[in-house]
This record gives sequence, C-alpha cells and structure tokens, in this order.
Amino acid sequence: MPNLHPHRTLPSLEALLELARRAALHSYSPYSGFRVGAALRLSDGTVVTGTNVENVSFGLTICAERAALVTAVSTFGPEIRIDAVAVANLNQAASPPCGACRQMLAEFVLPKAPVLFPASDGMRTMAFDELFPMAFEIKLQ
Ligand code: THU
Repeated sequence: MPNLHPHRTLPSLEALLELARRAALHSYSPYSGFRVGAALRLSDGTVVTGTNVENVSFGLTICAERAALVTAVSTFGPEIRIDAVAVANLNQAASPPCGACRQMLAEFVLPKAPVLFPASDGMRTMAFDELFPMAFEIKLQ
C-alpha cells in the first residue's frame, strides 16, 4: 500500500540520529574540543536540532540538548511535546545527556520517548523515564 501522505511520516530514529550528527558539525567548542549535537522529534514529526556552545567563562556553556530544547520552545511554543531524542558527538566518545539536560527535557519529553545516545559500548536507546526516573517537581498543596 503506497503511503499517500509521505510528509506525515515521522522521521525515523536513524534519520534523527543523522540530524544530531549534522548539528554537531556546528559545535562551538574551542575549550573542550567535544562536539555534540542533539535532535528532538516533536509529536507532529518536526525535528529541532541544537549543538553545544561554549564560553570562555566555562560555566556559561550550554549543552547541545538544552540548546535544541530552547530553540524548540522558542520556535513552536510551550505546548510542544518531544517524542524522541537523539544525541551524537564527533569524538567517538560516550555522551549520555547530562543531569541538567535531563531535568530540562523532563518538562517536555513524553515519559516513554526513546533517547538515543553514544554509550561506552556503542549507541544505546533508553526510554526517557528509565534514563531519568525521578525528576525534581514542585507540587504545591
Ligand atoms: N555537553 C553537551 O553538549 N551535552 C551533554 O549532555 C554533556 C556535555 C557539552 C558541554 C561542553 O561543551 C562539552 O560537552 C564538554 O563538557
């Protein structure tokens, strides 16, 4: 059966990973040399990418995942939901999303969204809620 709406097909996880790799080519990382890219697939299939942008005041550096996240919200608004995440680096090293990025992503990522990232033994895929089981939250009485 031909796909009559090819533009409505969600990009595959493999395609998402390739977009993360391409985003890493834009990395501004003169201090660490670690070039990271992230690609977020929104629930309508739109993909938003980001890369790490370092600063000479090292603590100001923003990771690829958070750069992608703020771009996604800034571009499409606060109703977005992220249904898949891919992270890549050009250094052939492990780079699971850091804790700060997990906490930021938690606001917008669906709990069962697959997260693809380079681990020490190759690419790994984990559900977001497995990668980050206990996000900080505020529940006021
Ligand atoms: N980095 C990311 O972009 N994502 C992460 O999840 C961890 C670290 C970046 C920040 C910095 O520019 C470089 O990797 C080395 O820490």
